[in-house]
Amino acid sequence: MPEAGASARRIGVLVSGRGSNLQALIDAIGRNELRATIAVVISNVPGVAALDRAAAAGIDTLVLPHRDWASREAYDEALAAALRDKGAALVCLAGFMRRLSARFLEAYDGPVLNVHPSLLPAFPGLDGPGQALAHGVKVAGCTVHLVTAELDAGPIVAQSAVPVLPADTADTLAARILVEEHRLFPQAVGRVLDGAWRIDGRRFLDV
Ligand code: GRF
Repeated sequence: MPEAGASARRIGVLVSGRGSNLQALIDAIGRNELRATIAVVISNVPGVAALDRAAAAGIDTLVLPHRDWASREAYDEALAAALRDKGAALVCLAGFMRRLSARFLEAYDGPVLNVHPSLLPAFPGLDGPGQALAHGVKVAGCTVHLVTAELDAGPIVAQSAVPVLPADTADTLAARILVEEHRLFPQAVGRVLDGAWRIDGRRFLDV
């Protein structure tokens, strides 16, 4: 028998590429560190490694190429409908390289979490590690935040810092940050699924 409330722990994961954060979620669920079921993995790009990772784990996949829709709003409505159909109570953006519109957030009524490779609000947008290195910061890291219509700007759920070392390139720094992403993202997803949180202004707080 499924446990009470199990349906509320169904998550949808949106991807566009490599899928290492998806893999971290799959692995955390496999180790019973994250109590959740991945209901579906949806990619806006066909043929990406993330889809292979999902298939290898026996997870339903869907490819919704954004170019097949006439407008961003129409695409975002289709995406929200697909997630609702699968009963996803929370959505994880795991390297989903596409902005979600306000229309998506209206049409999908649940928390949406993103993992970003910088200590927000520093270095939003593309190539957080490269931006951090170019700026000369001594500490970099990653952020898991709730998604709002503004890019990389929603309430912060969790952050983790790593040092920037003198010999770093954008690639070595990104790799150090990625280790932390893989640890932090499943933890933050579990915390949001547990539900004992509230938003006060910009702050994500325990109830
Ligand atoms: C990660 O660095 C994540 O922070 C960013 O996109 C990258 C996705 O990597 N949003 P992967 O596809 O999870 O390996």
